[in-house]
Amino acid sequence: MRAIVIEDKQLRWAEVPDPEPGEGEVVVDVTAAAVNRADLLQRQGHYPPPPGAPVYPGLECSGVISAVGPGVGGHHVGERVCALLAGGGYAERVAVPVGQLLPVPVGLSLVEATALPEVACTVWSNVVAHDRLRSGETFLVHGGGSGIGTFAVQLGKALGATVLVTARAAKHERLRALGADVTIDYQEQDFVRVVHDVTGGRGADVVLDIIGAKYLARNIEALAPNGRISVIGFQGGTRTELDLGALMAKRGSVSSTSLRARPPAEKARIVSGVRDQVWPLVAAGVVKPVIHATFPLSEAAEAQRVLESSDHLGKLVLLR
Ligand SMILES: NC(=O)c1ccc[n+]([C@@H]2O[C@H](COP(=O)([O-])OP(=O)(O)OC[C@H]3O[C@@H](n4cnc5c(N)ncnc54)[C@H](OP(=O)(O)O)[C@@H]3O)[C@@H](O)[C@H]2O)c1
Repeated sequence: MRAIVIEDKQLRWAEVPDPEPGEGEVVVDVTAAAVNRADLLQRQGHYPPPPGAPVYPGLECSGVISAVGPGVGGHHVGERVCALLAGGGYAERVAVPVGQLLPVPVGLSLVEATALPEVACTVWSNVVAHDRLRSGETFLVHGGGSGIGTFAVQLGKALGATVLVTARAAKHERLRALGADVTIDYQEQDFVRVVHDVTGGRGADVVLDIIGAKYLARNIEALAPNGRISVIGFQGGTRTELDLGALMAKRGSVSSTSLRARPPAEKARIVSGVRDQVWPLVAAGVVKPVIHATFPLSEAAEAQRVLESSDHLGKLVLLR
């Protein structure tokens, strides 16, 4: 088969060995794969695949099962699926543990479905399973225009939350169309002040943060009593001081997780939660994949260049 390989921090479309399905795995013939910010870090050598994962980039794909490994029940050759991957989506075929397979949501094409597994699993596991965002609460999403952000806005609205997002002004109109109640231009406005203005001084109940160190103190300032902050990205660095007094005064909590590093059994539990709680919202059209552009798989380098520019809104998808 062919796959995108990383050589000297560059992407190259190359002939590589076909994957074989291991115990509890299937092989998926890839129709489409999506690009994630983590893929840029992997290309730059900062985010190696976990042990045992395919070495090619790509954290999600959709396609058709072409082989079934030992010990697999309930799946068959020819089945259309999408999948959460530890790597290997930028390829013509990929071996996937069955716990990471999802059905193609009702009403979506295979290409649309590929834009969902990584964002749905990341956002659901942090915001729903961990932070327990509830109807009537205020949800602050940093980086509303990202793949993660465009999904989080829609899920937050579907759960009945008031959704505030930070993003560059050029993205605000489209974010309001997705359901954002308040858009904050982080280049011109102080998000802490806007959050307090909008909530009558109470603050945000749940914060989904992709900036990390640079925003930690201000996220705590913006937090409501009993608020929860989930840090899932470090675009603003990893090291900073934490004022425990400020956090305690809010009776707040800060957590941080990486989906890719979780063991397969944990990923399977998350995938199962997403299938039960998020897929019905997708089938009902309440939560939709947001695809900015598509590229041939062999032109993954160009797709990564667009992602790096941050001029996109939503996901970039690679087509085989
Ligand atoms: N921990 C996990 O399990 C996990 C899983 C998936 C993703 N992530 C993380 O989640 C983040 C988003 O991933 P993605 O693939 O969806 O990224 P993406 O589509 O490339 O989006 C990144 C976004 O960051 C925004 N941004 C940059 N500086 C900002 C700031 N100071 N304030 C607010 N927004 C800012 C940019 O929007 P503007 O144009 O508005 O600046 C851009 O849209 C990444 O940091 C990624 O590593 C974590």
